Amino acid sequence: MGGHSDASLPVRTGFLGWLNKRLPVDSFVKNQLTDYYAPKNFNIWYFFGSLALFVLVMQLVSGIFLTMHYKVGEATAFDSVEYIMREVPYGWLLRYLHSTGASAFFIVVYLHMFRAMLYGSYKAPRELLWLFGMVIYLALMAEAFMGYVLPWGNMSFWGAQVIVNLFGTIPVIGPGLVEWIRGDYGIADATLNRFFSLHVVAVPLILLLMVMLHLVALHETGSNNPDGIEINDNKGKDGKPLDGIPFHPYYTVKDIFGVGVFLTAFCFVVFFMPTFGGIFLEKPNFEMANAMSTPEHIAPVWYFTPFYAILRAVPDQQLGALAMALSIVCLVVLPWLDRSPVRSTRYRGWIWKLALALFVVSFVALGYLGLEPPSPLYTLLARIFAVIYFSFFVFMPFYTKVDPVKPLPARVSYDHG
Ligand code: HEM
Repeated sequence: MGGHSDASLPVRTGFLGWLNKRLPVDSFVKNQLTDYYAPKNFNIWYFFGSLALFVLVMQLVSGIFLTMHYKVGEATAFDSVEYIMREVPYGWLLRYLHSTGASAFFIVVYLHMFRAMLYGSYKAPRELLWLFGMVIYLALMAEAFMGYVLPWGNMSFWGAQVIVNLFGTIPVIGPGLVEWIRGDYGIADATLNRFFSLHVVAVPLILLLMVMLHLVALHETGSNNPDGIEINDNKGKDGKPLDGIPFHPYYTVKDIFGVGVFLTAFCFVVFFMPTFGGIFLEKPNFEMANAMSTPEHIAPVWYFTPFYAILRAVPDQQLGALAMALSIVCLVVLPWLDRSPVRSTRYRGWIWKLALALFVVSFVALGYLGLEPPSPLYTLLARIFAVIYFSFFVFMPFYTKVDPVKPLPARVSYDHG
C-alpha cells in the first residue's frame, strides 16, 4: 500500500510505505526540495547560506569532540587545551578545525549579509527572514566571544575583562549586571564555568532553533535573486515559476560544489597557517591567563574589530559603548530604513551605489583600525569612518527616496558581467 494520500507523491511499499504513514518524509522532500523552486539566476553570492549551514555543522561536530577532552576550570582549562594539541590523537586537527571554523563562520556570514544588502533581500516581504538572521548574528557573536574565553589564555582573560566591563556602562543596573554576568568580582572560575555551559549548550540550541526559523521563513517567501524581482509573479500554465528551477537536484549539486571550493581554502588555512599570522588565534593566547600581566595591546578577534573601533573612536566610554550598540541596531532596522522602490543594486542609482561602496570601505577600514593599537592618526581615521558608517544608515530613508532607479525587467537575467 502507498504510504500517503497525495497522488503526486511516489507510491511506496515496504518500509518506506510504513514510514511515510507515520512521518511525512516524501511530502517534505517534495515540498521543500524537489518541488521548491528557486530563481534560476543565482550567482556566487548565493553560496554563502548553504556554506554557513555547513560551517555550523562542522563547528558542532568538532566542538562535541573537543568537549570530550577539554576540562573546564581555571586550574585545568589551559593545560587541557595543550593536552589536546600535543597528546590527543588528531587533537590539533580538532582544535584548528574549530578555531579556524570560527573565523570562517564570520567570513561566510559577513558575505551572506552583504549579499542581502547588495540585492535588497531584507526588503518586504523578507523582513522577518532578515530579523531571524540578525538574531543568529547576535547569537554567533556571543558564541564566539564565550568560546574564545574557554582556552583560558591571557587574551581570553583580558578580552573577557574588557567586553564584560562594557555592560557596566549601562546606567543604574550596569555595575550589578557586570557582577551578575561574572559571578565573581573579577573574571574568574565561576565566569569560565558559566561561559562553558552557555557556549556548549545554550547558545548552540538558540542558533539551531533560529537557523530553522530562518529557513522556514525563507521557504515561505521564496528566495530573492540578483535582479530583485519576484519569480512567483511570473508563473507558467503548470503553476511553476517560469524563472525558477527545482532546488533539488539543481541547487543541491551547486551547493556541494561550493562546499568543495570552500573546503579547499579552509583546509589550506587549517593545515598551513592555523593562527593566520595572529589574526585567527592571537599570540597572547598561547600564554596562560594571568591577572597580574596585561597583554601589551588588547584587541578582540578580527570579526569584532569594526565595532571595537567604533567603541574606541568615542572619547567617553559610556557613549562609546552606546555607539557600538547602535552600530548593530542600525543593521537590525535596515529593512525599515531602505525606502527604495527596487531591491537590487543592479537597478538602483548612483547614490545608493556610492553609499553602499562607502559603507563597505568604512566597515573594512574600521575592522583594520580596531586591530591596531590606537594612535592619534588612527583615532581620527576611526572617527571619520564611524561617521561614514552611521551616515549610511541615518540618511538612508532620504537618499533611497531620491536615488534615480532604473526600470525593472519583466524576467530575470543572466548577463550582467
Ligand atoms: C548560521 C548562520 C546562517 C545560516 C546557516 C543561514 C542560512 C541561509 C540559507 C541556507 C539561505 C538560503 C541560501 C542563500 O540565500 O544563500 C539564507 C538566505 C538568507 N539569509 Fe541567512 N543564514 C545565516 C545567517 C544570516 C544572517 C546573519 C543574516 C542577516 C542578518 C541572514 C540573512 C539572510 C537573507 C536576507 C536571506 C535571503 C537572501 C535572498 O533570498 O536573496 N542570514 N540563509
